[in-house]
Amino acid sequence: METELPADAPRLAAASSPVLKVSNLVVEHRNRSTGEVFRAVDDVSLCVHAGESVAIVGESGSGKTTLAMAATGLGPRGEGDIQLLGRSLGKIGRKELRALRPEVQVVFQDPHGSLDPRQSVRSGLHELRALQRERTSWTSDEDLLEQVRLGEEILDRYPHQLSGGQAQRVCIARALLMRPRLIVADEPTSGLDVSVQADVLKLLKEARATTGSALLLISHDLAVVSSVCDAVHVMYRGRVVESGPCKTVFKDPQNDYTRELLAAMPGARWRARR
Ligand SMILES: Nc1ncnc2c1ncn2[C@@H]1O[C@H](COP(=O)(O)OP(=O)(O)OP(=O)(O)O)[C@@H](O)[C@H]1O
Ligand SMILES: [Mg+2]
Repeated sequence: METELPADAPRLAAASSPVLKVSNLVVEHRNRSTGEVFRAVDDVSLCVHAGESVAIVGESGSGKTTLAMAATGLGPRGEGDIQLLGRSLGKIGRKELRALRPEVQVVFQDPHGSLDPRQSVRSGLHELRALQRERTSWTSDEDLLEQVRLGEEILDRYPHQLSGGQAQRVCIARALLMRPRLIVADEPTSGLDVSVQADVLKLLKEARATTGSALLLISHDLAVVSSVCDAVHVMYRGRVVESGPCKTVFKDPQNDYTRELLAAMPGARWRARR
């Protein structure tokens, strides 16, 4: 099931080849002690085009993270085809995959877990710049931080000296520094205080607009998704049970599980009625 582009999706998206195309993906996890196999992703297909913002929603354990990790080459690849920036992950070696890394940036749920506790923000950025000189020369540390609305005083702080919201902004800044073609954000705000969740999402939305990156946003919160994304895939027990433009899916859900998700979220239900 491929994402149908909404009428107001960036024109660029329609004209370009997908940055990510997942076809009939199956990923199974094997329990090491019992040997039992669990199918976490079951025959999933989806597409993310340049400049597009696509969400994967679904309850805990529905396979969202497994799908994202497979799609970015960071986790077990399973069976099926994954085309990342036009390259089939099953057909490229580690070296080529490494070369794709800067183009695909992942923002995780736990920002503190993503940052090296021994590195100040400045030295972390310096390290990234040293690895990718040309790619990262487009902006200064100060301007980069300004994009995520952090002051330059943050540069000399260590991760433990940052709030959750500040740390996640630093993670987003690090991702932006690479000017990636795809940002994958896995529940980027669920570990944050409610008061800063909206700000961080707004940043992601703006970042997508300024850098032209595509965004794959994983969330169990339909209200969040409706404010940030063009299209949505609803996952249930490893399968995509419904896909389409957010406006259509939220307004007129066809699947019972999608209806249940919407019913559990008063904010989303309210939006869906509009
Ligand atoms: N390494 C693993 N070994 C065994 N089972 C796993 C492993 N990773 C995930 N699973 C199982 O696969 C299923 C899907 O997990 P996944 O983390 O992809 O779900 P999710 O939708 O991201 O959930 P959440 O919203 O809680 O993050 C779950 O039942 C989980 O227990
Ligand atoms: Mg997850």
